[in-house]
Amino acid sequence: MQNSYTRPALSADRYTITAALPYTNGPVHIGHLAGVYIPADIYARFQRIQGKDVAFVCGSDEHGVPITIKAKKEGITPQQVVDKYHAIIKKSFQDFGISFDNYSRTSAKIHHDTASEFFKKLYEDGKFIEQTTEQFYDKDANQFLADRFIVGTCPKCGFEESYGDQCESCGTSHNATDLINPKSSITGNTPSLKETKHWFLPLDQYEPWLKEWIIDGHKKDWKVNVYGQCKSWIDDGLRPRAVTRDLDWGIPVPVEGADGKVLYVWFDAPIGYISATKEWAEKEGKDWEPYWKDKDTKLLHFIGKDNIVFHCIIFPSMLKAEGSYILPNNVPANEFLNLEGNKISTSKNWAVWLHEYLEDFPNQQDVLRYVLTANAPETKDNDFTWADFQARNNNELVAVFGNFINRVVVLTNKYYEGIVPTPSDFSEIDLETLKELQASPSLIEESIERYRFREAQARLMNVARLGNKYLADEEPWKTIKTDEERTKTVLFVSLQIAAALAVLCEPFLPFTSDKLKGILCHSELDSESNWNDILTKQTLLPSAHQIGKAELLFSKIEDEQVQKQLDKLAATKKANEVMNATPEPQKDTIQFDDFTKLDMRVGTILEAEKMPKTKKLLVLKVDTGIDVRTIVSGIAESFTPEEVIGKKVTVLVNLAPRALRGVESQGMILMTENAEGKLVFLNADEDDVSNGMTIN
Ligand code: MF3
Ligand code: ZN
Repeated sequence: MQNSYTRPALSADRYTITAALPYTNGPVHIGHLAGVYIPADIYARFQRIQGKDVAFVCGSDEHGVPITIKAKKEGITPQQVVDKYHAIIKKSFQDFGISFDNYSRTSAKIHHDTASEFFKKLYEDGKFIEQTTEQFYDKDANQFLADRFIVGTCPKCGFEESYGDQCESCGTSHNATDLINPKSSITGNTPSLKETKHWFLPLDQYEPWLKEWIIDGHKKDWKVNVYGQCKSWIDDGLRPRAVTRDLDWGIPVPVEGADGKVLYVWFDAPIGYISATKEWAEKEGKDWEPYWKDKDTKLLHFIGKDNIVFHCIIFPSMLKAEGSYILPNNVPANEFLNLEGNKISTSKNWAVWLHEYLEDFPNQQDVLRYVLTANAPETKDNDFTWADFQARNNNELVAVFGNFINRVVVLTNKYYEGIVPTPSDFSEIDLETLKELQASPSLIEESIERYRFREAQARLMNVARLGNKYLADEEPWKTIKTDEERTKTVLFVSLQIAAALAVLCEPFLPFTSDKLKGILCHSELDSESNWNDILTKQTLLPSAHQIGKAELLFSKIEDEQVQKQLDKLAATKKANEVMNATPEPQKDTIQFDDFTKLDMRVGTILEAEKMPKTKKLLVLKVDTGIDVRTIVSGIAESFTPEEVIGKKVTVLVNLAPRALRGVESQGMILMTENAEGKLVFLNADEDDVSNGMTIN
């Protein structure tokens, strides 16, 4: 569906690049990084290398109901919540080399001012509808139930846990009163309705314009997933959306008669991009306005798919209503990243947290960056697995990239004391290799400009592969004994590839790029050697240039390291299951006489073997103290025969005998299930059996 690539036409000189402001109610995890911040960072770094004027902005989204819910849960104030997570999030981004020009926050004064002014301008220009409507109200909690304070069934897709403002299952944005079977998420009450006044942005009035701008205007250059979502919403018809809320956490509505009301978080947060730009410009002594108002500026929003409606429909309509702003040129939204087959979830702690990753893999930011880009959920949801993480590191970063660099640097030091040799005549293969090298920057650029970061990174790795193959074919370690001139030429060519890699990998692997530039003593060449130099020059590292000593760029990740991560996830899963296990309701009352009818004995399993042609059954010989008898037990999926021999068990001995697969079973072994669904014998020393589990 996308345009064919035309290089100069697409590029602008000034870029305003935004990355979704993360909610400040928890740390950031690999899903955030893969979906939003790494692609945005690759793009921003790339444009800077091209010499473009870039404002790459982000910040903490500190208003909204999720923050107040978190505060309630932790027994602290919303401000304490955002202070805590703002610091953690900001540090994680820094640690991973996300090169924001400014990371701001929406509790900053400059943001409150900017958002208030924006609202006032729209208010004064008559862009809002002021309306008193009935909204959900929780009498016990004594408050209106906006957004995440209410859950109910999505009118569009039937998802039963949709929030008041958005359904996380189908992405639809709706009004809370559209929910079917609404419940207060504070008390669980069915809410009542209460009248209240709010300001609405009449999105319906923007429909014709949105149709023209998106449906007709961006069919070819927006991603299929983004365009498709927009089209379906516009086709369904848009309705006025309230941009104010009855809440006590947020930016006060800056007009008369709006006491106790704040701006809707999705009204204020995107304006955060503007305030972050202003704050940055002030610090830098620049004018912020061209970054938002000059029509030659390219405005790009990097987001996850759950944010599409806000960045493609609502925020652009706000900008349009204001009148003096440019509109996004593109909104390259990604799908979601799963973790080991399950949806990443902050509340279930099913995530790889960035700050925790760095504890286990210190200084290995680029490995995670690499794997997340290689697996980026660009066109569909994708899965992160630790096995893939290890394989990509060991087979690609270590075996291809690292290995090539190491061989070149070691050989140059060994043969020429680290001095770039002077080449003699280039062979056919040398020329072809250099030609391929010179073609690579524009290939990578093409992929980046089309927001295909996986493809871009794969093309980068092809440069390392090119180098590896060249070395393997030309074998300088052999020619050194026979042909000194040839060896010099081969190492000269290899060093050019190494230098190109140092420059080309910068957007993807910034830490590696720095390290490699250091090894090649490339920093003095750095300022001039942007991508275009690789396009035009054959020589990035001139003869007689002194390089440094070899250092490993990447190191192997061992099985134990991966196992540790898998164990951590298994522990999380178990903890969640124990927490969520709901005991079955109690059965009907029995009399004591009924109970005494059961004859239960302690027994020991003497023999065990699998019942042929069955999956579940073991045939056991059990010493009950009365006799030794045969019991057929459905436990083969939880135990091997060897494991159960010698076990002490509880046996119901007076159960009427029953034939199973032709073998008469003379009793029953009492079992329960542990958190992982594995059967365990009913013994008092089993510590992972929780209360309330049925004995059967
Ligand atoms: N906080 C939102 C989220 O995490 C994203 C806000 S993006 C902005 O889904 F545009 F509002 F800033
Ligand atoms: Zn839905």
